[in-house]
Amino acid sequence: MANHSCIYTACFTTPAALKDWQRYLVPEAGRWRDQTVLEVGVFEDRSAVWFLDHVLPLSDTHYVGIDPWGTSRRGHKAEQRCRTNLAPRREKVVLHKGRAEDVLPGLDLTVHLAYIDAARDYDSVLAYSELVWPKVPPDGLVVWSCYRDSHHLEVATAVDDFLATRHYDTVWVRDQLCVRKVP
Ligand SMILES: C[S@@+](CC[C@H](N)C(=O)[O-])C[C@H]1O[C@@H](n2cnc3c(N)ncnc32)[C@H](O)[C@@H]1O
Repeated sequence: MANHSCIYTACFTTPAALKDWQRYLVPEAGRWRDQTVLEVGVFEDRSAVWFLDHVLPLSDTHYVGIDPWGTSRRGHKAEQRCRTNLAPRREKVVLHKGRAEDVLPGLDLTVHLAYIDAARDYDSVLAYSELVWPKVPPDGLVVWSCYRDSHHLEVATAVDDFLATRHYDTVWVRDQLCVRKVP
C-alpha cells in the first residue's frame, strides 16, 4: 500500500477498502484535472500516501489533509512521521493542523474526492459531512470510513441522516461508503 521508505505504527485501511479504492477511485482519477483530494483525519498519512501513489500521479490533482494531531505523545509522533513521509511530495501536498470543524470553513477548495476518516461520534461525522459537501461539485465523490463498523455505529447514523436530504448515487458500500454527488 505505501511507499516502502515510510514508517508507520498503525494501519487503518482494510484490504476490502483498498480493493474498492483501486477498483473505483483509480479509474476516476484519470478524468480529473486541477482538482483536490481532501482528507479529514490524516494521522500518519497511510491513506495520503496511497492517494499520492495511486490517484494523484494520474492527474493534476493535489492532496489537502487536515488533522489536529493533538498534544499527546502518540499524536506528536504521528504528525512527525506524517510530515517526514510526505516531505518528498511537498509540491502536491498541503497539510492543515487543526480540527476540520475549524479549518474547513476557511478553505476555498473544489474537492473531487473527499475521504472522511476522523472522529467517529455522531456530531463530528455530521459536522465534517456538512462542511465538506458544499466543496464537492456534482460528479465528485465522498468516502466515509467505518460506515459499517460495529465499534462505531454512530458513523452510519450520522451519514444516513446527512444523506437523507442530499442528492447522490452510491458508488460502493462495504465497511466504507462512497457516494457520488448528483445535481
Ligand atoms: C483513523 S485516524 C486517520 C487514519 C488515516 N486516514 C489513514 O488511513 O492512515 C483518525 C485521525 O483523525 C484525526 N482527528 C480527530 N478529530 C479530528 C478533527 N476534528 N478534525 C480532523 N481530524 C481529526 C485524529 O487526530 C487521527 O489522526
